[in-house]
Amino acid sequence: MDKRQIVKKVMEKQELKEIPIEDAEMALALCFKKNGSDEENIECTREILHNAYGAFGSRKLLVVSRKEKEPEWILRKHLSTRERLPHYKDIYKRILGKFKGTIFDLGAGVNGFSIGFIPENRYIGIEGIGQLVNLMNNYFKKQRYNARAIHLSLFELEKVKDLIKKEKGKKIIFLFKVLDSLETLKRDYSKELLTEIVPLADKVIVSFATRSMIKRRKFKAGRNWIIDFIRENFKITDDFETAGERYLILQK
Ligand SMILES: C[S@@+](CC[C@H](N)C(=O)[O-])C[C@H]1O[C@@H](n2cnc3c(N)ncnc32)[C@H](O)[C@@H]1O
Repeated sequence: MDKRQIVKKVMEKQELKEIPIEDAEMALALCFKKNGSDEENIECTREILHNAYGAFGSRKLLVVSRKEKEPEWILRKHLSTRERLPHYKDIYKRILGKFKGTIFDLGAGVNGFSIGFIPENRYIGIEGIGQLVNLMNNYFKKQRYNARAIHLSLFELEKVKDLIKKEKGKKIIFLFKVLDSLETLKRDYSKELLTEIVPLADKVIVSFATRSMIKRRKFKAGRNWIIDFIRENFKITDDFETAGERYLILQK
C-alpha cells in the first residue's frame, strides 16, 4: 500500500473516521517504516491517533442517534467532562468571574454541552472529531444557544487564529486537557500554539489531568517543561486543582 492507502485504511475505524486527514498523515509520518508491513504501519499510526484523539470518549458518543439526549447524559459519556460534571458551577465561577464575551474551546470534545452553566456567553468549540462537532451543533441549534462547533485541526494554526481574531468583544480561550494530545503528534507544538494565541485573548485557561483519566491513579506526567515555559512567557493569575484537573489561568 502507498501512504495514501494506509491513511485511508487507518481512518476506517469508527472513532478515526472523521478526524482531519492531515493529522492522520502526521501520525503516519511519525512511525512509517519503509520496510515494515502494511499492518505494522497501520497499527502504529492508529495507536498514535488513539493517544491523541481516541481514548477519551465512549464509542456511544460517536453513534448517538438523532434522538435528543440530555446534556448530562453526554457529559457523562466523555471521561474529561464526566469528572468535571459535579464541579462545573464552581470551576466556571472561578475561571470566568463576571466575564461576558466569547469563549473559544480548543479541542472541545463534548464540553460544549456544559454551556447550560454559562448561557450568557457566546461559545465557539473547535474539535477534530467530526461526530462530536455535529453532536454539539445539533444541541446548540435545538436549544438556541449562541454557540457553534467547528470541525478543524488545532494544527491549522492560521485558521484557528483567524477565527479568534474575527470575533469582536472580550475573549477567553479554553485549552482543557488538550496539550498532551497535541504533543503526541508534534513535539513542542504547545509552545507555538500558546505563543500565538495568548495575545489574542483576555485570558487563556490551560488544564492538565493530574491523575490518569483511564486508571484514576494520581500520576506524574512530567509537565514541568510546559509549566516553566508558561511561567517564563506569561502571567499566571490563578492556579488551582479540582477533581483530578489542574487549571492555570494565563494572560500576556
Ligand atoms: C482529553 S480530550 C479533552 C476534551 C475537552 N477539552 C474537555 O476537557 O472536556 C482532548 C480532545 O482534543 C481533541 N483533539 C486532539 N487533537 C486535536 C487536534 N489536533 N485538533 C482538534 N482537536 C483535537 C480530541 O478529539 C479530544 O476531544
